[in-house]
Amino acid sequence: EPHHDATHEAIARWERRWLNAAGLLLVLFLVLIAYSLATEGGHIAQRSGRAAPDQLTALELFANPGVTVTNLGAGRPPEVQVSVVAQSYAFNPSEILLPVGAVATFYLTSRDTQHGFQVEGTNINVQLIPGEISRFTYTFRDAGVYRVTCNEYCGIGHHNMLGTIRVLY
Ligand code: CUA
Repeated sequence: EPHHDATHEAIARWERRWLNAAGLLLVLFLVLIAYSLATEGGHIAQRSGRAAPDQLTALELFANPGVTVTNLGAGRPPEVQVSVVAQSYAFNPSEILLPVGAVATFYLTSRDTQHGFQVEGTNINVQLIPGEISRFTYTFRDAGVYRVTCNEYCGIGHHNMLGTIRVLY
């Protein structure tokens, strides 16, 4: 009967609309994920091995924490390695100097308890766990002073646990 067909037709039409909307959302999400990975969102910290907290000085990476230039290839941005050891209530080194535009790969660990490494004005926000090495790569495209804070409550001096990253021309 005609009425029945019309109802069916209407339902089918709405089903198609919802399916199209869902499909569109799926595509939108994939595009957003791809975009964020291709830009600022791609700096996800990874586990990069283990480092016994009481034997950090025996590791080349953490014996002298700080900045090491790893590549000064002509025509390319310099690559640097930054190692940081956190402990209650300081970062070692407390100040990190970087050339603007350098591709900096950070290796971080904690000597005692759990700490955080958050860099204001960026999306860097890493958890530092004793025994684990956290790694991420970041390019500071703007010169300036970036404050580093510990954002994991680590004890009485937590709020004084600060660092600085100076990005220079
Ligand atoms: Cu270290 Cu809070």
